[in-house]
Order: sequence, then structure tokens, then C-alpha cells
Amino acid sequence: MSRLVVVSNRVAIPSDGKVSSGGLAVGLLGALEQTGGIWFGWSGDIVSGTSANAGPKIERKGEVTYATVGLSRRDYDQYYRGFSNAMLWPVFHYRNDLARYDRQEYVGYRRVNSWLAQQLIPLLEPDDIIWVHDYHLLPFADALRAAGVKNRIGFFLHIPFPSPQILLTIPPHEDLMKSLCSYDLVGFQVQSDLDAFCDYVVRIAHGTVSEDKHISAYGRTLQGGVYGIGIFPDDVAEQARRPENRKPVLELKQSLAGRKLIMSVDRLDYSKGLVERFRAFERLLETTPSLQGDVAFVQIAPPTRSDVQTYQQIRERLEYEAGRINGRFSSLNYAPIRYLNRGFDHRMLMSLFRASDVGFVTPLRDGMNLVAKEYVAAQDPDDPGVLVLSCFAGAAAEMTGALIVNPHDIAGMAEALERALSMTLPHRQARHQENIEVLRKNNLGVWRESFLRDLRACRVEEAQDDTLDTRACLTA
Ligand code: G6P
Repeated sequence: MSRLVVVSNRVAIPSDGKVSSGGLAVGLLGALEQTGGIWFGWSGDIVSGTSANAGPKIERKGEVTYATVGLSRRDYDQYYRGFSNAMLWPVFHYRNDLARYDRQEYVGYRRVNSWLAQQLIPLLEPDDIIWVHDYHLLPFADALRAAGVKNRIGFFLHIPFPSPQILLTIPPHEDLMKSLCSYDLVGFQVQSDLDAFCDYVVRIAHGTVSEDKHISAYGRTLQGGVYGIGIFPDDVAEQARRPENRKPVLELKQSLAGRKLIMSVDRLDYSKGLVERFRAFERLLETTPSLQGDVAFVQIAPPTRSDVQTYQQIRERLEYEAGRINGRFSSLNYAPIRYLNRGFDHRMLMSLFRASDVGFVTPLRDGMNLVAKEYVAAQDPDDPGVLVLSCFAGAAAEMTGALIVNPHDIAGMAEALERALSMTLPHRQARHQENIEVLRKNNLGVWRESFLRDLRACRVEEAQDDTLDTRACLTA
């Protein structure tokens, strides 16, 4: 079987034999280990100009070669902090009000994509299949094709794909979409993302989309597909039961002194709906006074992308809200919100999920949201907590046993919390069972195998224009 080359902005290199415990890293590593392969991307370091030209740093661990490069300060600013995270991220999450376009940053984004492609090319073999991940790398295949690479190249978007009217707010939208069509297979988390992509192809690019999502646009042909990312639920359950975590969980329980626990874990990002969530919890305390003093809300929110202005603003906002709500409802021995701006070991988080009564996951927009799935998998089936989940998370399509809420509806979310906190054991068990069955069926292995199967089924066709070869997929 041909070798796999994974390309992503960040690369999760296992340290001291320990694989990163986050779901995606485990999934991709599993695929790489099966066929042998390369994981290529940014090392996470900002380096001086000379080091940036040194070529990839190569580390081999078992069957997998990790090839990473540093970015110069200018490349980091334009490609990562600028166009990827101050333009694409907000627009793809329907927050074009927060987006900031800078033409030079877009030039830098394309330049870095081309440079990264050049760094990868010497490592490629003709039979390799290449799987590129996420919004940082929309033009990566285009750059490889321009350099004559003819391998099969697939792309998976981890975040939502916006409807055309939103996408049009990105000035070089056409250039981006044209580049995206250089892939052989483009995968999305949920059907509505693929539909939005096809909508653009048909209405804006005047291309065609067949029933089975075979797409022709800009003189190229490609396949579109839906591959909702999953987790390995049994591994998560095992992490949640780890004896090593018993002591900290016990300490948490003791500090709660019998109070119910609502838990949330998110990167500190404006797409996660944290302000609305804090207000919903406040509303719960307002409307159900009997819960005052009887329920605690733990929000773990490690800061992220803190050199992007919009992230500084959301952080200040949340500090204000947490302080305000705690000031309003605290007593001498009770503070309703515990707001923690730090990361935790993944296994520890799973144990905390298991110890809680409600998982409160309410992004304003999210590609999938694996936290929602992990929350379910971490529960004790004999006494499970209840998932309260935003209808705008990709996971809502699968987690039908959750209480689904609109994250813009503060009163609605407060009602759902109240319902979750008072749900009887048989109802909790039935809902949990419904969710866990879906998690097992659509696990992370299914996600990667179905994407790779479809990508392998793509075959090279004759070049359709004079600069690029194009391909067609044989299956959907
Ligand atoms: C999201 C994106 C990923 C990204 C992660 C962390 O989940 O979809 O591509 O790696 O956030 O963001 P960061 O900017 O820290 O890499």
C-alpha cells in the first residue's frame, strides 16, 4: 500500500515514547503507522532567517518520520497570526465582523504555503498519497501542483465551511476556492459544510456538481465528501477511569461538598460561545434560586493565539463576566464559577468529565467539537452525566441523546441546564446509551479509513489545462 504523507500546520511529535493524548493526533498516527509515512508541518518555533532556510528537521520514530520546519517572524505574522487566524478563522466561523483583511498578509499566506510545499517535495516519493489538514493550508495542493507534483492529494477541513454570502467577504475568495479545487478530494465535517462548498462552486464559480458530489470547476475535477471526525470512545473511557486521577478528582469532590457540577473545557476562543454560556449559568441561578449555593460551574479555558487582538478582547470580557457573576452570587463558602485559564493533562480532563453532572458545550459555531464526544465517552454508564450541546456544533448531528440548545438563547440554555441537573437516572442512561452507540459506530478509525479509502480511489487523469494535472475520484 502506498505511503501516507500527512501535512498539518502543527505536528504532534510523541515525546519519550508517549503519544499525544489528543484524539486527532492518535488517529493520524495510527494511519501513519499502518503504511509508514511522513508527518510534515510547522515545528511551532519562530526562527531567524538562516534557520528558516535550513530545510526540515527530521526525526524518525518507528515507522513514522516527522519533518518539521520553523517559521521566520514575518512568515508567522503574515501566514499564521495574520491571514489564517485574523481572517480565515473568524470568517469560516461566521464572525466576519471580527475579521481583518490585509493584502500583504494574504501574499504572505500564499508565499508560506509555497515555501512549505518546496520543503516537502524532496521527501516525496511518486506513489505517496498526501493528506493535508485545515484552513492554514488551503493553497498547499496548488503549490505542489505548480511544482509538478502528480501524487493524489486530499484535504480535510476541520472547521466549518461558510455559506457563499459569508465567504464572499474574503477579498481573494475566488483565488482560494480555485486553489482548493487543486485537491483530488476535499472532505468536510458535516453535510451542510459540503453543501456550502458546492453552493459556491455552482452559483459563484459556475462549475458543476453531480449527485455523488463529483465537482468540476476552474478547469479541474475533484470529489467532495463528508467525514465527521470521531474519537476512540473506549480509550477515552479508560483514561477517565485511571487510578492516578482518583486523588485530584476526590479533592475536587470534597471542595464541592455535595454540590452538583457543570463542566466546560474549551480553548479560549470567541467561537466557543463562552460569554453566552456564563450568562446562561447566571440566568439559571437567577431563575432557580434553590440552586444558588448548590451548583458549581467549572470552566477550563487555556488561552490560545493570545497575540491576536480579538483573543485578547474575549479574554478580558470573560474575566469581567466571571468576576461579575461571582460577585453577585458568592457567599462566604461558595463561589459559583471556577474559571481556570490553564491547560490540563488530557487524561485528567476525562476523569473530571466523569466526575461531573453536566457537560456544557455551547460553541456559536464549531466544525465538530470533540470535547462533546469525549464528555460522553468519559461517563460512567451506570450513572452518566448529561451533555448540553449547541446546535451549531458539528457533533449535534450525531449526539442526538444530548439536550440540544441554541447558544444565542440564554434563557433556553438556562432551562436546558435545569433539565439536565434534575434528569432521572433512567433518562440519563437512555440518552447516554444513544450517544455512545453513535460514538462507537463513527469512531476515529472509521473517519480516517473512509477518507483514505476515497483518496486512494482517486486516479490520475490527463491534464486538463497546461499548468495543472487534474484527477477524478472513482468513488464518493
Ligand atoms: C483548531 C484548528 C486546528 C488547530 C487548533 C489549535 O482546532 O482546527 O487546526 O491546530 O485549533 O490552534 P492553534 O492556533 O493553537 O494551532
